[in-house]
Parts: sequence; structure tokens; C-alpha cells
Amino acid sequence: MRGKFIVVEGLEGAGKSSVIGLIKETLQAAGKQVEQTREPGGTPMAEAIRDCVKHDWNENVAEETELLLMYAARVQLLTNRILPALDNGAWVVGDRHDLSSQAYQGGGRGVSAQTMRAISDIALNGFKPDLTIYLDVEPAVGLERARGRGELDRIEQAGLAFFERTRERYLELAGQDDSIKVVSAMQDMQSVHKAVLDEITLYLSSQNEATA
Ligand SMILES: Nc1ncnc2c1ncn2[C@@H]1O[C@H](COP(=O)(O)OP(=O)(O)OP(=O)(O)O)[C@@H](O)[C@H]1O
Ligand SMILES: [Mg+2]
Repeated sequence: MRGKFIVVEGLEGAGKSSVIGLIKETLQAAGKQVEQTREPGGTPMAEAIRDCVKHDWNENVAEETELLLMYAARVQLLTNRILPALDNGAWVVGDRHDLSSQAYQGGGRGVSAQTMRAISDIALNGFKPDLTIYLDVEPAVGLERARGRGELDRIEQAGLAFFERTRERYLELAGQDDSIKVVSAMQDMQSVHKAVLDEITLYLSSQNEATA
């Protein structure tokens, strides 16, 4: 049976990495074969694009350049890893996917909805995750956590207003799509994990019912 694609989304420092560990364990305990991906990245070429995108270039990086690079990396990952894994029956847990571009490039950088739709259509041809967990955090809180991990990269250095716009777009899009579940990441980690576990358990039981 074809696998499912579960994505964890959120601003820097929202807690995606720790939640992904929890989701993987939960799926494995339910007998699923699990693969993990991260975006941008996840294939040799896509990881090179990740380095390129995060690098502090001594020149203006146009919004369209950043957008096209993100999608180039995504197509590599989708074609070479996500789709083959799903075809093999594995469940794929993604650290970010298309919603990140919709929120960061669309909301944060202000790329038009028309452009976002056009490029997403070309690159993904309608593909979307089966379930997305969006970890909602105030930018100041998330960035403070991320800062604790080391120096901020080029994108993380964009001011607070950029992340406010990004968060707003995340919430707006989540409100329009039942497959995106919002979990507040402004609680202690244990409460965040409990809320995520509830969503994953609910999803697993809905899948079991669908195949019963
Ligand atoms: N709910 C929480 N309360 C307090 N600290 C947290 C919470 N969630 C995560 N942290 C801490 O914040 C830091 C950032 O978390 P993490 O690396 O998981 O975020 P991330 O969403 O993966 O960030 P990035 O997008 O930058 O990869 C870590 O040190 C983590 O332990
Ligand atoms: Mg992370």
C-alpha cells in the first residue's frame, strides 16, 4: 500500500526537529517503515542548493531567485526520494515542504499569489502532503530559541516583521486546509509533544478505518 507524507512546519525555533523525532517513533511503533526528509535539501544536489540559499552572498538575492532555488531543490527531493519512498509503501516525515515557500516567499517576502501558484503548479503538479503539523510560535520566541543553537543564517537574519508576515500566512493557509493541523509551540515541550501525538494518533486511526 502506498505510504503517506506527513510534514512538520513552523518558523525557526518552533521545535520541528524534536517533534519529527516523536512522529518517527510513533509511526515506527505502529509498524510503518519511515523515511525522513528536510527542505531545502535531502538529495546531494538539493543539499548544495540549501547551502547556496543559506549563504550570505555579498549581493542582493532577488526574491524570484530564492523562490526558484527552493523549488528546484523541492523537485529534486520529490522526484528522487519522496515519490519513490511513498510508492514503496514507506511513510515519509518531512521537515518543511511547500507550505514553507507559501509562507516565507509568499507571505514574508511578498511574492504574488499568482506567481506562487504558477511555480507550485509547474514544480509539484498537484502533489501535496497527506497531513501537515504546523507548530505555531511567536517569531521573537522562536528566534530566541534558534539563537541558542548558534549563529543565524541569511534567512534567519531577516527582521522580525518578515517573520510576523510569514507566521500570518501560515495561519491563514492552515485555516483554509483541513489537512493542516495547528499546534501551539508556545507551551512547554511536553505539552507540544502531547498535542502532536494526539494528532498523529487520530490520523493513524482514520487511516486504519479507511482500510478496514
Ligand atoms: N516548546 C519548547 N519550549 C522550549 N524550548 C523549546 C521548545 N521546542 C523547542 N525548544 C528548543 O528550541 C530550540 C530550537 O528547536 P528546534 O531546533 O527543534 O527548532 P526547529 O523548528 O527545528 O528550528 P529550525 O527551523 O531552525 O530547524 C532547541 O534548543 C529546542 O530544544
Ligand atoms: Mg530544525
